[in-house]
Amino acid sequence: MQKVLVTRRLFPEVIARLAGNFEVDYHDDDQALTPSELAVRLSDKAGMMLVLTDRLDASVLAAAPALKVAANVAVGYNNIDLAACSAAGVMATNTPGVLNETTADMVWTLMMASARRVVAADKWTRTGGWQSWKFLDPWLGQDVHGATLGIVGMGRIGQAVARRAQGFDMRVIYHNRTPQTETGGATWVEKNTLLAESDFIVLMVPYSTATHHLIGAAELALMKPTAHLVNVARGGVVDDAALIEALKARRIGGAGLDVFEGEPALNPGFFELDNVTLTPHIGSSSRATRMAMATCAADNLIAALTGHTPPNLLNPDAVRQ
Ligand code: DGY
Repeated sequence: MQKVLVTRRLFPEVIARLAGNFEVDYHDDDQALTPSELAVRLSDKAGMMLVLTDRLDASVLAAAPALKVAANVAVGYNNIDLAACSAAGVMATNTPGVLNETTADMVWTLMMASARRVVAADKWTRTGGWQSWKFLDPWLGQDVHGATLGIVGMGRIGQAVARRAQGFDMRVIYHNRTPQTETGGATWVEKNTLLAESDFIVLMVPYSTATHHLIGAAELALMKPTAHLVNVARGGVVDDAALIEALKARRIGGAGLDVFEGEPALNPGFFELDNVTLTPHIGSSSRATRMAMATCAADNLIAALTGHTPPNLLNPDAVRQ
């Protein structure tokens, strides 16, 4: 029987399905394996299911001579060195499609929470701040309906975010390196136009060297003083230190953030601010969607190890003879 490694605690149903096909080495834990533990446990494995905090690079691959497939339980795959996988003949897969709507819901959750200062207002209410009802209360926020929404990265999730904006009568603009054809009424604009004209800016780009600090001090300076920034994509797309400075100086209206540089060790500057809403990388975290992601990754793993092309193969040049 072929051996596979599952690097993190997942749904028992998915593990049971794998166990029907393979000998499963299950790291039934929420803590990540260290790179050296990963290397040891991969030494005799034909397949692995990994999550976004497991780094799969040339050094780990060198310790995994029998590995044929690495099935990421995420759509983003910046944790995987694809070129190194191809060079080692290891197929890499991800989980596109199944998390679009749930992640778009999360974008809207953060957008509206930031616009109406929901988390800060909740804290104030709990801690006895509400002594009298005021017309000009401290929570005067921004309207989402009728506002301009700017989406940076109009992929599948960006389109799901844009669709929801129709119900809020929003003007939707977007920026991609190349304009898309399927955008549901959104208009392509230059990045600086998007930054200057949007009331809400949503980042939906993958992380890479090309998108590292896509939003830094210069970009934040172009935003309206009332605008809100939402990042549910990846840490590193935003320069967190620059964002903290902009929020502290009230140069922008607020931010809703699900992803961070160096997460889970956040820049402590965020904790001092009441104009930022913070969540712990839970964009895809509904029970149904996490189950769909794990199932999709298992489908990819099983296909690859039973002589089929996995449905979500990222590196077709990697097929090992
Ligand atoms: C993804 O799939 O890339 C998400 O960030 C993980 O939930």
